[in-house]
Amino acid sequence: MRTTELAKGIYWVGAIDWDVRDFHGYSTYKGTTYNAFLVIDEKITLFDTVKRSHIDDLLRHIRAIIDPAKIDYLVVNHVEMDHSGALPEMMEIIKPEKLICSPMGQKAIVGHFHREDWPYEIVKSGDEISMGKRTIQFLETRMLHWPDSMFSFIKEDGILISSDAFGQHYATSERFDDEVPLSEVMNESAKYYANILYPYSPLIKKLLKTVAEMNLNIKMIAPDHGVIWRSHIDTIIKAYDDWSQNKSAKKALVIYDTMWHSTEKMAKAVAVGLEESGVSTSMVNLKVHHRSDVMTQVLGAKAVILGSSTLNNGLLPRMAGFLMYMRGLKPTNKFGASFGSYGWSGEAVNLMNTALLEMKIDLIEEGLRLKYVPDNTSLEECRKMGTRIGQAVLSSCEENE
Ligand code: FEO
Repeated sequence: MRTTELAKGIYWVGAIDWDVRDFHGYSTYKGTTYNAFLVIDEKITLFDTVKRSHIDDLLRHIRAIIDPAKIDYLVVNHVEMDHSGALPEMMEIIKPEKLICSPMGQKAIVGHFHREDWPYEIVKSGDEISMGKRTIQFLETRMLHWPDSMFSFIKEDGILISSDAFGQHYATSERFDDEVPLSEVMNESAKYYANILYPYSPLIKKLLKTVAEMNLNIKMIAPDHGVIWRSHIDTIIKAYDDWSQNKSAKKALVIYDTMWHSTEKMAKAVAVGLEESGVSTSMVNLKVHHRSDVMTQVLGAKAVILGSSTLNNGLLPRMAGFLMYMRGLKPTNKFGASFGSYGWSGEAVNLMNTALLEMKIDLIEEGLRLKYVPDNTSLEECRKMGTRIGQAVLSSCEENE
């Protein structure tokens, strides 16, 4: 049995889920891992469990090191079921002296498993618990991304067990960031941020400041998903800092769906105008791209330009679904505009504009509605709109440089 030792006596004992492809609407093409960590000390401590379906992997990994019944403390950093699904069975097997969690964690555990009798030890930010030679320092990270979320810092080894933060849905037999291509890990980290943490950017900005002020000697960041950061800690912290401040590149996205290719023609003309202005441009056909991949692109783009034909007085269903998803993730600091072809009623552009305004995206054009199939004059209007938006993107990005 291969076990991974992060530092002397500290092991990864989690599970690899090679098969998962959907995480409540987020496409996980590379699967994921459910990380759990075991510390062998005077008080043997397990940090988090795994999704219930993977309890056998967790137990096998623990048993390769010790008998699970010898575990004294079980720390629950996050109660979402991908980390706590195995908790009831693990509580039966381990019968720990302490089940350590935050105040919100206890509420969530009781809400999920209806066990008020478990030996809860409630910890708050700044509290410490000794494992013997090592000390755990706790930091509540409420709403990152659940109310119960918490970090555990093993002070003597400088290991920050960071719950979902800094994670990636990335199944791999390697456990560390320097054992896999950095570009892949960063792409998966960006996708994770864009699809899970994006709405909480103001809290992340504050958390990064708090962690910096705590002056922790962080040697490793061990998230609950994906690889452990030991060689590129500065890279991932800098990326989180940029994402939490909604920093955008000189980039525009033309996100569209089309019925009989008229809106697609408009999309291409808008993209030509954007490219001519010198802005990096991506065409994003919602028939082809999964919403969660589109959000990864939205994270780094300054302009989001939406196109949809009108269908039954509304939007094409893929655009309607995408906007519902995007609204929940609360992207900010972006320019927006809309366009679309229609036959007789033509509500789509107004509906997209309304959605952009509701998201507090800066609507910089009234939008273009064109009847039936666009002719060359109409396409020229689209191109010009693209150029105007491109110029606005360039001016805005240059002001912020
Ligand atoms: Fe990985 Fe929020 O659970």
